[in-house]
This record gives sequence, C-alpha cells and structure tokens, in this order.
Amino acid sequence: MDDNGRRKFLGICLGGMAAGLAAAFLYPVYRYLAPRTNSGAVAKVVIPEKDVLEGEAKFFEFAGSSAVLVRKKGGELVALSAVCTHLGCIVQWEKDKQDFICPCHGGHYTPDGVVTAGPPPRPLAKLPFSVANGAITVG
Ligand code: FES
Repeated sequence: MDDNGRRKFLGICLGGMAAGLAAAFLYPVYRYLAPRTNSGAVAKVVIPEKDVLEGEAKFFEFAGSSAVLVRKKGGELVALSAVCTHLGCIVQWEKDKQDFICPCHGGHYTPDGVVTAGPPPRPLAKLPFSVANGAITVG
C-alpha cells in the first residue's frame, strides 16, 4: 500500500469512528428530546367502580400520560388528565379540601378541573368515560 492508499484507508477509518461517536452522542439526545410516542399505550382503561369512593380520586395511566378519576361528594364521577396545564407537572388530590393542587407552582383546580388559583392557564382536560356493570371505562 502506498502513501495515498494509507491516507485513504486512515481517512475512512477516522470518518467511520467520527460517525460512530456522533451517533453514540446524538441518539440519546434525540431520545431525550423526542416527544413520547403512545406505542404500547392502552386505548381504554377499565377501573372497577368500587375503586373510586365518594370524595376520593384514583390516578392511573391513560394514553401514555397520567389521568385521574374523581368521585365528587354526591357521587358524580369526573375523568381528567392529571397533567397541570401550566408546565406539565402531575397534580395531586387533596381529599380534605376536595381539590387538586399542583406541587410545582401551587396551581389549584376544582374536582371538575376548573382552575381556582395559581398560574395554570386552562382547566384540566376532561376525558371521556362510561359506566356499565360496575366498571368505569375511560377512553
Ligand atoms: S406546573 Fe402546575 S402550577 Fe406550574
């Protein structure tokens, strides 16, 4: 192999290594930044009615995100996204106050998802659901 051949071979080797290093660095960055896909997410979630008692909330995964069922005082059911509309934190149920609080910046929501305090710009998103034969089907 002459000098030109060695240079070409070395260039190909270095180019391959550079491409490998770039891929090894960029792929994790891409995976971190890319939006979550819903692959593997369940289209419908079924929860036994007896699992959601009056005045309580039950959190669950729905379509790759956090969701919550609330049985308000009086028995009415509400299904909501549990993702705060401010910056996306997961809200928590305050049973004693019968409202949701967002732990990140203190947003408050009624059991229907309506904003009552703090920075959230919109209500929690409502989710469709139905009740039949002792089961609540969300989705
Ligand atoms: S993310 Fe919920 S109040 Fe900021």
